Amino acid sequence: MQDSKWWQHGILYQIYPRSFQDTNNDGIGDLPGIFHRLGYLVDLGIDAVWISPIYPSPMVDFGYDVADFCDVDPIFGSLKEFDRLVAAAHARKLRVILDFVPNHTSNQHSWFLESLASRRSSRRDWYIWGEPRPGGGPPNNWLSHFGGSAWEWDPGSKQYYYHSFLKEQPDLNWRNSAVKEGMYDVLRFWLNRGVDGFRVDVIWLLIKDDQFRDNPVNPGYSGGSSHNRLLPLYTSNRPETHQIVAEMRAVIDAYADRVLIGEIYLPVEQLVTYYGTNLNGAHLPFNFQLIEAAWNATGIARIIKEYEAALPQGAWPNWVLGNHDKSRLASRIGEAQARVAAMLLLTLRGTPTIYYGEEINMADVLIPPEQVQDPAEKNEPGLGLGRDPERTPMPWDGSLFAGFTSGKPWLPFGPNHSAQNVAALRDASDSILNLYRHLIAVRRRNDALSNGLIEAISAEGDILRYERHLEEQKIAITLNLGRKTRQVSHSSARILLSTYLDRDNEEVTHYLSLRPAEGIIAEVNA
Ligand code: NOJ
Ligand code: CA
Repeated sequence: MQDSKWWQHGILYQIYPRSFQDTNNDGIGDLPGIFHRLGYLVDLGIDAVWISPIYPSPMVDFGYDVADFCDVDPIFGSLKEFDRLVAAAHARKLRVILDFVPNHTSNQHSWFLESLASRRSSRRDWYIWGEPRPGGGPPNNWLSHFGGSAWEWDPGSKQYYYHSFLKEQPDLNWRNSAVKEGMYDVLRFWLNRGVDGFRVDVIWLLIKDDQFRDNPVNPGYSGGSSHNRLLPLYTSNRPETHQIVAEMRAVIDAYADRVLIGEIYLPVEQLVTYYGTNLNGAHLPFNFQLIEAAWNATGIARIIKEYEAALPQGAWPNWVLGNHDKSRLASRIGEAQARVAAMLLLTLRGTPTIYYGEEINMADVLIPPEQVQDPAEKNEPGLGLGRDPERTPMPWDGSLFAGFTSGKPWLPFGPNHSAQNVAALRDASDSILNLYRHLIAVRRRNDALSNGLIEAISAEGDILRYERHLEEQKIAITLNLGRKTRQVSHSSARILLSTYLDRDNEEVTHYLSLRPAEGIIAEVNA
């Protein structure tokens, strides 16, 4: 049917592997767990999984501190189990995307240990080292995303090294061509094992100012993460970064049909520059605008229009509603509107990414202080920066350990997991899980939804509407973002799906009535 690429018409699903399925009862999810749940993913209807880091790691930042880029941490399994997972996924037509973490390594990575050993080490320049300021203190005012100075003193060599995140996550020096080659070989290692692409961690932070200029003070700072006291002018989105993204893309393009996705938090005009000159950058610079957006029709209509207008010629859009770093959708906008958001995500133009558990309306889980795991919370407690609440284990059934483990789960389940779990929602015909399955099926059956143009984007009061067009087919989407019943004028059409799952094939003539938090997909009569 389509001649678009799989990563254009396909649906991505993010798995946080610690929390998906445990098989050896240590309370932590693992690769055999994902293998075990492939049937669930096929049934849901997604096309590709992106798995957050599985590499050997001291787990100070839960895998985003990589000690060896070319192996699997024993907590998650082995290379053999990884190969088995990829083969089984491919046999079921599911693609596998890995998380590539090029900005930094663990301080336990052999490269860093060698770099640390002496100023004369051949790997010294693989990391970013700076002299103390005259009179002492770090080279400049750069701040870590996880609080405090981004510079850590090494008493042995009397220099500081730079870390964008934890001091246990020293930044690689991407101005060094040996680093680049080493990391491109890492990409090839996994591409040769059959992975279908990468989600690249903090791709917009790879290059830092070579003159180490101070970041300017942020005049708009009004509390929250101390990192935001400064504007990251010299530590993020540097012009030289694009060359590296293009080089990564060239590595990927030597293999057929792979995808390069970049994690980027930037305003839309800057975000879209990561498609690269002549689209030689990331296939999909992740678009997180809906995560940050206030949930109202006018604002969201504006976001869609501005994003569509900003896309370079030929660039393929994408949309994300949640991830392992941000508060869960149901907690941000409520369970009822989360159904509307699901319809939005799966009917917008562009590749959708679903975060595991959104399909069962998982909410943020309150973590008692003594159970906090996330270093972001430990370093700056009480500011709401912790990410444990959105990383809790997937409840598969109503049993004591929710079918996730028989051990002690590494993070607690939500309070209502005995009712709100995959098995229970699978059986409830009007559940959000079944809404996701129907939405995905409708999207798959109607090319206009995956490949068509988006037109007539508008907002009026609580109602957000747009149409998807492909050849003769026209599909109208009408979403009620409010709590009241609304009536809108509508072309004559046939309903394909309501978020309430009870209006299939209803004919619409002149008017459409929407219940609170109801969304409707309707095929306009020719
Ligand atoms: C972004 C990742 O999504 C986040 O979880 C991690 O802590 C930082 N990058 C550092 O790798
Ligand atoms: Ca396990």
